[in-house]
Amino acid sequence: MQNTNELNSGLVVILGTGGTIAGTAQDSADNVGYRAAQLGVLELVRAIPPLGQRRLETEQIAQLDSKDMDFATWRKLALRVSEHLARPEVMGVVITHGTDTLEETAYFLQRVLAPSKPVVLTAAMRPATALQTDGPQNLLDAVNVAAERHAHGVLVVFAGAVHSAEQLRKVHSYRVDAFASVDGARAAVVEEGRVRWLSLPGTAPTPFGLGVLSRPLENWPRVQILMNHVGADGTVVEALLEHGVDGLVVAGTGNGSLSMSLERALRSAQAQGVAVLRSTRCDAGPVTESADALPSAGALSPVKARVELLLSLLAAK
Ligand code: SIN
Repeated sequence: MQNTNELNSGLVVILGTGGTIAGTAQDSADNVGYRAAQLGVLELVRAIPPLGQRRLETEQIAQLDSKDMDFATWRKLALRVSEHLARPEVMGVVITHGTDTLEETAYFLQRVLAPSKPVVLTAAMRPATALQTDGPQNLLDAVNVAAERHAHGVLVVFAGAVHSAEQLRKVHSYRVDAFASVDGARAAVVEEGRVRWLSLPGTAPTPFGLGVLSRPLENWPRVQILMNHVGADGTVVEALLEHGVDGLVVAGTGNGSLSMSLERALRSAQAQGVAVLRSTRCDAGPVTESADALPSAGALSPVKARVELLLSLLAAK
């Protein structure tokens, strides 16, 4: 823990994990040729004058580009978030993260912890050195949401919008408003530091709990994602079976449909004890459950279906 500022009540803990929000470039006009995860979380906070009025603590959990996020960091993050939330004086936790796997970490934390206090992830599409960096405003907004009395659960604050972990997807590779709630409303918007709620959160499924994370990391299930496409056959499934796999998520076409050859291979994998979930390669919308089809991942995107399958396999053992 590096810093505590006592000016305002409602303690918010900010956990840093890296990402573009902590990235730097040689040239301030360069929005893509930068190195992610260069600045510490305390530096990010100190660059935002209004945060000087807040009661904050910061802690560096990791310093990585989120394309390299791993199970060890996920577990460490979940445990630290849980410990901070258990402190009565903590109103909420903010996590700075990279945008690339933000939706996976957010969904992972929601399904493990389902916290009754807010856990707010935020990030940036432009490095901290950019002429129009988006990180400082996003971090300020995230702290405001974490200190908001109606906020709870894992939320993502980005470009003035508040998304639930379930709804969020990264929908653009370059634009500053890179995230959307794809199949429902944004939870809220943040305007001049004030949070305006737009929708009430639905009933959350039962969380897995931290207990499922206790297995040694090298024994965590191997869950892979594959896709249906023109000419898709069972070769990838067979190769994965040969290599050793515990679960497969297939991003089907449309409503989770699969080529005959791919479906045959997946059914054979299932018969050999591999857990299979059918998602869709469409940007939004559910895969409907059907008695004679492989199990559906509902409205989860392929990457979130992978998190769900990973956790259910961890829970099953
Ligand atoms: C990352 O995901 O860590 C790098 C990319 C980003 O944050 O936008």
